[in-house]
Amino acid sequence: MKRLNFGQHRVFIYNSADELKRAAAEHLGAVCTARAKQAEKVSIALSGGSTPVGVYQNLLKADLLVSATDKSSTAFPWQQILFFFGDERYVPHDAPDSNYRMAKEAFLNSAPISSDQVYPVPTDCEQADACAQRYAEQLSELDQHNNMPVFDYILLGIGDDGHTASLFPNTSIINEKNKPTAAVYVEKLQTWRISLTFPVLNQARVCSVLVSGENKAAVLADVIQNDKNICPVGRIENKNGINWFVDQAAASQLR
Ligand code: 6PG
Repeated sequence: MKRLNFGQHRVFIYNSADELKRAAAEHLGAVCTARAKQAEKVSIALSGGSTPVGVYQNLLKADLLVSATDKSSTAFPWQQILFFFGDERYVPHDAPDSNYRMAKEAFLNSAPISSDQVYPVPTDCEQADACAQRYAEQLSELDQHNNMPVFDYILLGIGDDGHTASLFPNTSIINEKNKPTAAVYVEKLQTWRISLTFPVLNQARVCSVLVSGENKAAVLADVIQNDKNICPVGRIENKNGINWFVDQAAASQLR
């Protein structure tokens, strides 16, 4: 693994997507185990998309969680973790493109947790806006700062257009500063989404982004090295920094 630092960005470059996904799972495991010693509950906002599937599957591998956690610690604190989502498609929870369904199939259905530890984004309201509001109400149970929820860990992906969660370029949601969640209509996908907003991403205790594949190399280099970039993921400003778990293909344009 090669590490590069660029201001708030800590970039970890792995030889392959598989190595990236194992490392990201180990990092998530180590952070959660450490946090679980300080707090009763540990809150994670899971990423949607396809890249995280391998990360989530790794979380079920006991050897990984043992290696990830401090040797003197107890086992991975499954029962202390609350699972939320960074964003969701405005579709039924059993729809093929539901992030909740993806996470359930990847690991939540097999993890030693109870269903009340998982908080799917509501998607059964008449309007997506109402779903976003209901999700915001669920987030009010978390630690708050500036009237916004503080997640212990937010895991994100990035699209080749520089979107993250459902913060897509040239949409109203990227300017939302007063609400923790919002609904957004994504013209190019012709679909409604519900997403966490920048104020929440910016104050997560740990924020990590998964980037795999050649098709994301240009946007990653733009975000990490060319600060003129204004794509959404480049607009995260987290005082705790941002961890980037990337593979060689995605890092191919970093200098
Ligand atoms: C989603 C995600 C989205 C995703 C990126 C990357 O709901 O799709 O929140 O932001 O992380 O689109 O997706 P891939 O991992 O599939 O490339």
